Amino acid sequence: MKQVTVVYWSGTGNTELMAKAVAEGAKSAGATVKLLSVEDASPEEVLAADAIALGCPAMGDEVLEESFMDPFVEALEGQGIEGAALALFGSYDWGDGRWMREWEERITEHKAKVVGTLIIHNTPDEEGLAECRTLGEKLAAQ
Ligand SMILES: Cc1cc2nc3c(=O)[nH]c(=O)nc-3n(C[C@H](O)[C@H](O)[C@H](O)COP(=O)(O)O)c2cc1C
Repeated sequence: MKQVTVVYWSGTGNTELMAKAVAEGAKSAGATVKLLSVEDASPEEVLAADAIALGCPAMGDEVLEESFMDPFVEALEGQGIEGAALALFGSYDWGDGRWMREWEERITEHKAKVVGTLIIHNTPDEEGLAECRTLGEKLAAQ
């Protein structure tokens, strides 16, 4: 059985809703799933998974949340994410998704395998949640 680990940071709950739906999708596709708030996650534990999803909204000026998620991504990169199957997701409001494009670029430079990226404007609706579940199913197939 595949292990999928979903790690997220969420200030007002939108990215958390996405994370739960990604986890649901992976579970429905037969994976064993860990859903962790980034504050509770360790890089070693996360890198042991067959596939990883990282969720973070656009914060600051089109950047990752700087207290927990950015240092966590840096720690993952430090431990080596070459070849790791990774999906990135998050909610945003007024921007054009730049934070996600830059995040994808960053992990691609570290030679992770990007399984998919998903951005949702503010709170995910039913359609958005379905997209999250589909991303989870894709992760379960890695
Ligand atoms: C401090 C702060 C900075 C933000 N910066 C951006 C931004 O640069 N671009 C953007 O599109 N949205 C920005 N937002 C909006 C959030 O990304 C948006 O509200 C998102 O839905 C929050 O997700 P969450 O509920 O998971 O925390 C910002 C919100 C806050 C509170």
